[in-house]
Amino acid sequence: MPAPYTIAVIPGDGVGPEVTDEALKVLERAASLFDFTYHTKMYPFGADHYLATHEFMPPGQLDEFRTMDAIYLGAIGDPRLPAGLVERGVIAATRFGLDLYINLRPIKLYAEHLCPIKGKTPRDIDMVVVRENTEDLYTGLGGHFKKGTPDEVVIANQIFTRKGVERAIRYAFELARARAGKKKLTLVDKSNAIEVQQLWRRTMEEVGAEYADIEREFAYVDAACMWMVKNPETFDVIVTSNLFGDIITDLGAMLQGGMGVAASGNIHPGKVSLFEPIHGSAPKYKGRNVVSPVAAIAAVGMLLDYVGEQRAAAAIERTIAELLSSKRIPSLDASSGLKTSEVGDLVCASLA
Ligand code: IPM
Ligand code: MG
Repeated sequence: MPAPYTIAVIPGDGVGPEVTDEALKVLERAASLFDFTYHTKMYPFGADHYLATHEFMPPGQLDEFRTMDAIYLGAIGDPRLPAGLVERGVIAATRFGLDLYINLRPIKLYAEHLCPIKGKTPRDIDMVVVRENTEDLYTGLGGHFKKGTPDEVVIANQIFTRKGVERAIRYAFELARARAGKKKLTLVDKSNAIEVQQLWRRTMEEVGAEYADIEREFAYVDAACMWMVKNPETFDVIVTSNLFGDIITDLGAMLQGGMGVAASGNIHPGKVSLFEPIHGSAPKYKGRNVVSPVAAIAAVGMLLDYVGEQRAAAAIERTIAELLSSKRIPSLDASSGLKTSEVGDLVCASLA
């Protein structure tokens, strides 16, 4: 039997720990069904840890992660702290520190009744967003001048590098080629208003010359939001910058039924990568055992696919699809009538 996978687990804040419990239950069940072994190491990072220690993660933490196969994260964020502080200290620090340059976000509708757009079926909504994950307005380059005065000035720099843009676009072309989809890649940008974003278009054209089998399409982000709602069936793979990717994937999550189902991978191909549900820590639901763990479970599926357990990953996705389309999991919000832990149990019992 191959060596056990080593998985770092950060349950995090708010509902993070309760959805992580269900995700780990499914991981354990998948391991026994599909004959692989793993070790988890739990990390307390998040708001409580920060409040107690005044550090987000200890020095050397990223090096420790580098020795592992994957990282699993529940959710980070807590209303006791300034907005975004601990999110930047843990999630963003890990994305940047480990150079997890791809944020992979599948948008797939598993059951027609979950879609808020009338007449759309699972055949119509099956796309993947490749979000660049290490540049753009997220780097924090910039600052304040005369802070707190009537003359305050703030500057945030939107940075793109040829290297960063090219590696995201290349990954997206490869994905479009590998997927059994429409063999199409759509670049989402705003290069009409923000001229420097033409770097994305030029790079797409140049790299695209190597991918003659993949259709290329260009959409401004405002129009892309409209088409994702109006004609979601026209999309296959989307590649976009960090901020636009953040925004359009919340829209995408709604197309597939809500934040309760949307999962993501923060990936550096070939290196340790981080998997998480797209939803946040939802503090008002903390500890109530009512939120959907389906997104967290789907993130375990993505993790397993990444480390090489494709059969287990496919089984988890199939099980989620069956439980949703049969309405045994009737909805993805906190009013499904099922406890968080009951949904996890259902997935485990149905996995085969
Ligand atoms: C996401 C989140 C994060 C982001 C926040 C928590 C910093 O919204 O992963 O989509 O903006 O990337
Ligand atoms: Mg987001």
